[in-house]
Amino acid sequence: MSQSTQIIGQRLKRLDARGKTTGETKFITDIKVENMLHAAPVYSKVAYGKLLGINTDVVENDPDFVAFFSAKDIPGENQVGVILEDQPLIAENIVRYVGDSVGILVANTAEAAQRLSKLVSVKIEAFTPIFSIDESRDAKENLIHDTNLACQHQVKRGDPEKAFAEAVHVIEARFETPFQEHYYLEPQGCIAFVTPAGGIEILGSIQCPFYVQKAVAKALDIPFSKIRVEQAPTGGAFGGKEDIPSETCTRAALAALILNRPIKMVYNRITDIQLTSKRHPFQMHYKVGVSKTGKLLAAKIKLEENAGAYATLSSVVSYRSAMQALGPYVIDNISVESNSYYTNLPPTGAFRGFGSPQAAFGHERMMDVIATELDMDPIELRLINIVKLDTHTLTGHHLKSSVGAEETLKTAADACDWNHREMSQDERWKTGYGVSLIHYGNCLGAAGWFMDGSGVKIKLHRDGSISVAFGLIEMGQGALTVVQQMTAEALGVEPGRITVLPTDTDQVPDSGPSVASRNVVMTGNAIRNAAAKLLPVLKEAAAELMQCDLNEIVLEQGKISNIRNSEMLSFSELSNYLYLSNRPMDVLGWWHVPELDYDAENGTGEAYFTYSYATQIARVKIDTYTGRVMVDKIWASHDVGKAINPAGLEAQIEGGTAQGIGWALTENFKVVEGEVVTDNLTTYLLPTALDVGEIESILVEDPEPEGPWGAKGIGEPAIIPTAAAIANAVSNALGQSVAQIPIIPEHILEMVGD
Ligand code: MOS
Repeated sequence: MSQSTQIIGQRLKRLDARGKTTGETKFITDIKVENMLHAAPVYSKVAYGKLLGINTDVVENDPDFVAFFSAKDIPGENQVGVILEDQPLIAENIVRYVGDSVGILVANTAEAAQRLSKLVSVKIEAFTPIFSIDESRDAKENLIHDTNLACQHQVKRGDPEKAFAEAVHVIEARFETPFQEHYYLEPQGCIAFVTPAGGIEILGSIQCPFYVQKAVAKALDIPFSKIRVEQAPTGGAFGGKEDIPSETCTRAALAALILNRPIKMVYNRITDIQLTSKRHPFQMHYKVGVSKTGKLLAAKIKLEENAGAYATLSSVVSYRSAMQALGPYVIDNISVESNSYYTNLPPTGAFRGFGSPQAAFGHERMMDVIATELDMDPIELRLINIVKLDTHTLTGHHLKSSVGAEETLKTAADACDWNHREMSQDERWKTGYGVSLIHYGNCLGAAGWFMDGSGVKIKLHRDGSISVAFGLIEMGQGALTVVQQMTAEALGVEPGRITVLPTDTDQVPDSGPSVASRNVVMTGNAIRNAAAKLLPVLKEAAAELMQCDLNEIVLEQGKISNIRNSEMLSFSELSNYLYLSNRPMDVLGWWHVPELDYDAENGTGEAYFTYSYATQIARVKIDTYTGRVMVDKIWASHDVGKAINPAGLEAQIEGGTAQGIGWALTENFKVVEGEVVTDNLTTYLLPTALDVGEIESILVEDPEPEGPWGAKGIGEPAIIPTAAAIANAVSNALGQSVAQIPIIPEHILEMVGD
């Protein structure tokens, strides 16, 4: 049974486009259910201290007040830490940041819940808080947890000391990157229901339904089998809805269970920004030794991360930033240390790239610092060192397939005509070009390998329509559409037959988190696995019905033909026959990332099963009178293995690049004494369409044999190189090294002087 290859690679229209553009899509805030109450968190206004008592007297006479619940109401374990068990679901002894929840207030309306939650009196004995990485690392007493080191990863390969001695140049530099707020348009929100059997159902704006299921089970002491989590349409997430919903949904479920009524909890924007995770700020120190010709010989890299009050996903961030600390270059002698430190700030966690944009800022600024020192062209320096087929990554991963790094670099350089780039510098306006090259380990990697599997359920109906359930989710990235597309391709049917269901923990096995740019790879391979089970059944039924041999059947575009006599059968007829002949009509598909040969102690070997690669080149114009940096154009060349839906890929590249521009230039996140002061769009400046400039996407397709149809991930690679490319362009325009972002006008004016 041959299949057409026409559906993969098509620019299919998004399944969620109509609902989202017309406003028909119902988000959590739009959904009302009978008998529903509303909840809001009561949280600490003190950054660090001992909780002495909570008094609700002032709110209890309010006609809209219903209840208040604290840690003592939790029937199970008061623990919600996603990797380390360091985070109570509701603080009961120590509060560790402004925003640490000490309870949940339930009222008749959302307005009342939010108003009354602020009136509850919370008595706290304040301790001296710690806000910076330096203070946290150096603290000898008053530690935030048993230790201030939340987590640590390293790479130790070769003999850096010996190689430094042989290097002609040894160059050192320090870099810093700031917080970034996700600013998804839809804040955190969920509704928790009690089922007649005493179980819990959750409908929520969430990235990881299986995380929520586990968190509810643990805190409420209910078996997984009685907890169903369904994802509601989700208005953006970017990593910010990876672990946070485990807190919000479980607190709402606690109130629902006790009151036996549906509980809705939606954060307002200020609460959302104060309470939820951000991108980790990084301090980085690079020391790199190179040969006379620019070959990388030795590197010693130290990355330090501000983890905030709880570890959450810091471990993933420190792992990934260590594994990618010097980018897609060959180097045999390297030591990397990546440490995350607790502070009394909102927890930092998952944000598009998991530490990769920070590490990319470090290694790509460093490559330009080296190029300047050696008086070399930045692209030439990169080409000398770039990973290729049959070379090793910095962790010593022997690359045997799909290494499109060089092609992304060359196509981007050609597209912007790098060798003839305009370098005109008038007195006021300075133009600069900057290049940035990255690799991104696909999926969870060796540290998360045990949970790196995902599933789908494909169900044929008698009328020939098909439904697909998958275990990952749509959060705006276009997942539904590629799931439809890949299912159609795998089964040889038209996309229009396929309905993609909302993600629901009851439909598929635990598929892990919807993170790490995993969806296309994991779900695509699971679809192929399901199709491999279903196609022989279809074929056998078709041969029986058409009275021919199995190998004479062709299934294409929803038509079944018998190549011997060109007899045709519709997919609907075949589906109905499957039913009538008592054949299986639904199948589960599953895929797990292949085994990795990785040495955890030294951080060496196959850190990930494959890598996406990208080069971005930025052209900036700087107004030296006002200090404003304008991104004129970005050439973004991405090795995606294979483009499943090129329109979706370009949208990811444009969105990620825009988010990178914001982080590089305008998003100046400020916290004063633990309180976020940039808590709205007047003070926290997201780039608008007018600030983004032109983005030219270039798709490089170097197929990955383990990827579905050769595909690799794009969600995070889209943002990872951007800030470094812009900082390199600014450094190039001004002839000075930019060591930190955001590059606000004040910094530019300082650099240009009078
Ligand atoms: Mo995303 S940082 O993979 O949740």
